[in-house]
Amino acid sequence: MTGYELHIVVLAGGQSKRTGTGRPKGLLGLCGHPVLDWVLTAADGVSAASRTLVVGAHAEPIEAWLATSGHDWAIARQPEPLGTGDAVSCALPLLPAEGRVLILCGDTPLLTVETLQDLAGAQEGAMLAADLDNPTGYGRIIRGEDGTLEGIVEEADASDEQKGITQVNAGVYCLDLARLRSALKEVRADNSQGEFYLTDAAIRVLQQTEGSVLLLPDGDEILGVNTLTDLAWVKSLMMEQIVLEHLANGVQIVDPASCYIEHGVSIGPGTVVQPFSVIEKGAVVGAGCQVGPFAHLCTGAVLEDGASVGNFVEIKRSVLGAGAKAKHLAYLGDAQVGPEANIGAGTITANYDGVSKHTTVIGQGASIGSGSILVAPVTIGDRAVTGAGAVVPSGHNVADGETVVGVPARPLEDQANKEEC
Ligand code: UD1
Ligand code: CA
Repeated sequence: MTGYELHIVVLAGGQSKRTGTGRPKGLLGLCGHPVLDWVLTAADGVSAASRTLVVGAHAEPIEAWLATSGHDWAIARQPEPLGTGDAVSCALPLLPAEGRVLILCGDTPLLTVETLQDLAGAQEGAMLAADLDNPTGYGRIIRGEDGTLEGIVEEADASDEQKGITQVNAGVYCLDLARLRSALKEVRADNSQGEFYLTDAAIRVLQQTEGSVLLLPDGDEILGVNTLTDLAWVKSLMMEQIVLEHLANGVQIVDPASCYIEHGVSIGPGTVVQPFSVIEKGAVVGAGCQVGPFAHLCTGAVLEDGASVGNFVEIKRSVLGAGAKAKHLAYLGDAQVGPEANIGAGTITANYDGVSKHTTVIGQGASIGSGSILVAPVTIGDRAVTGAGAVVPSGHNVADGETVVGVPARPLEDQANKEEC
């Protein structure tokens, strides 16, 4: 097959019944990205002449997601979920008569680009497999006495003896396209699930081309997400990698088991992340910061060097300047907090007026008293002070160095005069 063009097909047309959520499993979140996003990203790393995603049972939300995902994939529609073989048949009209096709399932998010490149480079075609301690749910690889590939038997069709086989099919194949076209025509749904199995066609093609089985030493990489239990397990494996990378970079994560840190978070060295903290994708934390316990840094949160965010503080689309502190019970949304500012316990930036989001600017060294509500858009000047419980209405900016108190907040002098009257 050397010299043939490679085409990639990812299957995401199934019903996702086993998750029990009523939603497509490909769109379930996994460390900040949908399951399917991980698969397409890995596949994007393999050079190919075309990329096709098969959708069916949940076509609408998947197509809507794809349109904004940044992946450039063609869509093939599978009218009915009749099995993986049928799903690939639905992609064939978008592919040339000849060439090679790399087929992946849209529910195996741990596959790496390197593995896919190895598979795509196999001269005579290949399928991916691994030995699993618990092979339940996967297609088992059946070999002859001399080790030759004889078939793949699904869990639902396997005898007790076959269920004892631990070598399983990853659901990833690189196959000769012309041969696959013929083989798919021969597939019958004569199995216990009444489905057209891609595995039947794949085996036939690999036998014809004397293709190989690429056996991965690390079985974790092929794990599929069929149930929410599978998703939780895959998430824990991915999270372990994320945490290990931060630890290696000098970030002290005091209790990795209780923290949730998504993929794509940047944290500087010397920062300490206390237990029960949630840090979402895209958050940026500088060096020497304190996070948590029980802190929530949403997407768009930026902590500059030495900033501190403590118990029950949520930061959303906001910048906390160097050395600034929000230690207890606060919500900072769409806020720009200057360096060394102190945000007292219970402070809220009221950023949403029911229609639009607005910005709060808090100056350098400002001191926001406990229980202050800053109604955006509003600016609190450098070194300005708000008293405990102050409500600063939108547009009532506080000047540099000024102190405001009360509801609605007024300069401290005005308040003193009022009390004298
Ligand atoms: C499949 C393999 C199994 C393998 C496992 C690896 C078959 C028959 N079995 O089983 O040997 O060990 O993957 O994870 O191929 N899909 C469609 N249309 C359909 C049915 C499924 O597009 O009509 C898509 C699904 O959305 C999913 C993928 O194909 O992304 C695999 O389907 P799934 O039902 O998860 O197959 P498994 O039972 O896991
Ligand atoms: Ca699966």
